[in-house]
Amino acid sequence: MNPKEVVVLSPGRINLIGEHIDYNGGHVLPAATDLYIRLHFYNNKNHFSEIESKTIKKSVKLDVNNLEKSNVKWENYLIGSLIFLIKERNVNLKNFKCIIDGDLPVGAGISSSSALICGFIKGIGILNKLDLRDQEILSISREVEYDFIGVKGGIMDQFSIIHSKENKLIFLNCKSKTFEHINVDLGEYKILLLDTNIKHDLIESSYNDRVRECAKALEIVNNENGNFNFLTEINIENLNLLMRKMPEKIYNRALFVVEENNRTLIAKEKLKNSDLKGFADLMYLSHYGLKNLYDVSCEELDFLVDQTVDNNRILGSRMMGGGFGGCTINIIHSEEVESFVRNISKKYLKKFSKNLTPIITTLGKGLNYAIIR
Ligand code: GLA
Repeated sequence: MNPKEVVVLSPGRINLIGEHIDYNGGHVLPAATDLYIRLHFYNNKNHFSEIESKTIKKSVKLDVNNLEKSNVKWENYLIGSLIFLIKERNVNLKNFKCIIDGDLPVGAGISSSSALICGFIKGIGILNKLDLRDQEILSISREVEYDFIGVKGGIMDQFSIIHSKENKLIFLNCKSKTFEHINVDLGEYKILLLDTNIKHDLIESSYNDRVRECAKALEIVNNENGNFNFLTEINIENLNLLMRKMPEKIYNRALFVVEENNRTLIAKEKLKNSDLKGFADLMYLSHYGLKNLYDVSCEELDFLVDQTVDNNRILGSRMMGGGFGGCTINIIHSEEVESFVRNISKKYLKKFSKNLTPIITTLGKGLNYAIIR
């Protein structure tokens, strides 16, 4: 008997350091948030499926036996997941009803789209008794975003959503796809996200341009007698020898990638040695690289980071995720949270005429589910 009612909780993703590195074959240090999208699935006997998102107040009816791309982006996350799941498993799926809600903010750079796709595939897999392995969910969800939605991203988001454990970071090698869980003891400190409420859209933004620019840098390196698969395989000395062969912009992108990957390797050691301050200093260097060399920050993000620099109860701060909006991530003393948030919210509103949304998060657990009946 197939399950009749299933609830899936799919978390968002934070990333402590290692930004724009996943599609360059480097190392990242992400984790799941303790904020989730909740997907409540029911078997139905109809010839159509109904999906309703209470979060974004949208709904769609579709037939799993007759799927085509929609003009509505949100629907394509769902349609793409069904199409790629059917293709992967060569199965007929049953129609269903799904209600989506939860507390994960949308468009804040916390990967709500990957959370939706991974959670949706997981739930459909359970309803149809497909026994999907984590690896399958990861590769199908990646294909949906890469090929169907058109964001040429890496595997960091899906990986964290699927493999995270409470109170642990994931140290992921995006080239070998091997990972280890790292214990993190933040002591008196908290992770504070500050959402700029600039709703970025990775497709329309310059995200794919960065992917192309990195490919260009790699091509130039390889044309000069190299045989590298990823930019992160090159060391700074070799990159600098080729500086004159590259347009400045392309060199800057490559330099950021090589440096950020190195920073992530050092950051992991700092964390292992409980050197929280040393770790957090690297967050600032990451931000300045993302801002000055990789050019994916924006005025609002820079403002938020700058406001932390002279505050000795904030250890580190940087923009997080794809960029062009979204959140900053901050390591802040628990006693400082209230007054800092109050002050910075006022300043932000005054400067940008926009509200700032503060989010305290802990390191949450990955995708999980319950079969209700
Ligand atoms: C987005 C992408 C990820 C990653 C980050 C930047 O979240 O989906 O694959 O590239 O941006 O680190």
